Amino acid sequence: MTLRLGDIAPNFEQESTEGRIDFHAYLGDSWGVLFSHPKDFTPVCTTELGQLAKLKGEFDQRNVKVIGLSVDGLSEHRLWSKDIEETQGTALNFPLLSDNDRKVSSLYDMIYPNANDTLTVRSVFIIDPNKKVRLILTYPASTGRNFKELLRVIDSLQLTDRKKVATPANWEKGDDVIIVPSVNNDAAKQLFPEGWQEVKPYLRLVKLKNS
Ligand code: BEZ
Repeated sequence: MTLRLGDIAPNFEQESTEGRIDFHAYLGDSWGVLFSHPKDFTPVCTTELGQLAKLKGEFDQRNVKVIGLSVDGLSEHRLWSKDIEETQGTALNFPLLSDNDRKVSSLYDMIYPNANDTLTVRSVFIIDPNKKVRLILTYPASTGRNFKELLRVIDSLQLTDRKKVATPANWEKGDDVIIVPSVNNDAAKQLFPEGWQEVKPYLRLVKLKNS
């Protein structure tokens, strides 16, 4: 089954570096980032997991739990985490699932046989507290991801869930946002009494005080 935005993220139980995990119970009321990397003891993956470990505090601040996986086993994960700590200067601080039975990678369609028939690609799923899938990304093995982009998307999702706005290209927290087209000008006056900039009737930019 292909997972799409808005679908409920399938639940699973799997072993991890932090013990057996029931995914939905692990997420609880938090947001979640579930991501795959192709293989332990590989260069790009080593830098990715180090970067993510460094950003863990930023994910915590946004109430987001991070969980990774590859088709390697727990013993490989444990040995490799020592390399990550040594080379990236930060120890792993989130669970890595051991998916050598491919249970989770099959459920989330993380193996692309025409790219590689055994390894997972670099998939990312952002999941909201209602367990709905809110973002799906797929990167090739040769390109390490920019995890700050995930934080930017989470900031956008959390803001646009609270207010009737959308965020423009390259938006960063604190920048002007867009009043969604379903809000007419009369309703917008109630929601944004300090006014907005009308570039076009369908493109209205507004500054939010406490976004
Ligand atoms: C890497 O992480 O460097 C990598 C992993 C699998 C294939 C190619 C590169």
